[in-house]
Amino acid sequence: MLDLACGDGELLAHLSAEAIGIDVSFDEVRHLGRTAQARAQALPFADHAFDTITCHLAFMLFEDLPQVVAELERVLASHGEFLAVLGGGPVAEAPDARDPRDAFHHFLEILGRLPRHAPRFGDPRARSEAGWRALMPGWTITPFERWQLDLGGTFEEVWEFLGSSYEVDPDRAEAIRAELHARCGDRPTCNAVVFLARAIAP
Ligand SMILES: C[S@@+](CC[C@H](N)C(=O)[O-])C[C@H]1O[C@@H](n2cnc3c(N)ncnc32)[C@H](O)[C@@H]1O
Repeated sequence: MLDLACGDGELLAHLSAEAIGIDVSFDEVRHLGRTAQARAQALPFADHAFDTITCHLAFMLFEDLPQVVAELERVLASHGEFLAVLGGGPVAEAPDARDPRDAFHHFLEILGRLPRHAPRFGDPRARSEAGWRALMPGWTITPFERWQLDLGGTFEEVWEFLGSSYEVDPDRAEAIRAELHARCGDRPTCNAVVFLARAIAP
């Protein structure tokens, strides 16, 4: 099993002891065993080396997705499985139907990333079933599962999640934090969407 873009190994720690991880960032992988620094676009593995490849909150960020998919197809066994968790942002609600204490919408608004939190990073095909079908001809794509996560809590807990999930200009971080606190108070709600996506290699 391979964990693609394993970051600091949070998911890897829950996988089989035989699973290995790669990440482009040496800072992320240098403290971990069973990992290597590598790019998803050029995997340093033999053909058909893996039965399963996981990818948690990173597939939406990759450049040159067709090349990543070509590498997945090369290193996966025939009928091997690619499982990805894709970030879906805040719960998609019309602005007038939003929970006024939902810190996710306010945070993106303060960052200037609403409406519909544009501009988004990466290739938009990574985020939809139709996009996966276009990117992965010959693969079997199972319907995406939509999960809604309740990440509400203390202001500190919510800030920790939002501030570490999005790039925040360090010079503006204090002002953004204060504005968010003024809008949402000490116990904000914070609802996020993720998709569980699954594709079986040809
Ligand atoms: C949002 S983090 C997710 C990390 C980890 N999977 C997790 O859930 O904690 C995205 C990761 O993708 C990695 N990454 C970005 N582009 C990459 C690429 N082309 N090849 C490999 N890793 C990449 C980054 O270094 C970062 O660790």
